[in-house]
Amino acid sequence: MPDIQRTVVLLKPDALQRDLLGEIIRRFEFKGLKIVGLKFIRLTDELLNEHYAHHMDKPFFAGLKKFMMQTPVVGLALEGLDAVGEVRKIVGSTNPLQADAGTIRADLSMNVSSNLIHASDTFESAVVELKRFFSDEEIFSYEKITDRYIFGDG
Ligand code: RTP
Ligand code: MG
Repeated sequence: MPDIQRTVVLLKPDALQRDLLGEIIRRFEFKGLKIVGLKFIRLTDELLNEHYAHHMDKPFFAGLKKFMMQTPVVGLALEGLDAVGEVRKIVGSTNPLQADAGTIRADLSMNVSSNLIHASDTFESAVVELKRFFSDEEIFSYEKITDRYIFGDG
């Protein structure tokens, strides 16, 4: 049975620089994902050390952190049926050159280190990232008249 979940997306500095914020958000909206959190975030070295702790030993770690601090990022909290996996599907593989056509990364980018977007990779990491990037007051629960058509029982 599908589950209503929340997940976290960060629109990276290349998305902002390339004026792709609207295009990327539009793709999530068209899927029916509900935006329950939306804000600019100025990432810090401390926050990135935590967020990318599992990449600490990788050669791209320092460059990745520097890149993520170039501009503010846009944080999105999205809600929907199986939202964690569905969002990862829409985002596509980490390397845009290996991502399936139709995904955000395949359609709009070419380079693994500027792949436009971060998305929580498991339900467990979505729970942690929601807390990491949003306070309780920044997450909004609300009903839309389209909920029943999108989530079921239409
Ligand atoms: P993300 O965490 O950003 O949603 O991406 P992901 O799960 O698809 O990929 P992950 O393995 O977690 O890598 C995090 C980010 O690090 C950059 N990266 N660069 N130069 C490289 O070989 C390389 N590999 C990964 C990417 O920006 C990736 O999104
Ligand atoms: Mg990841």
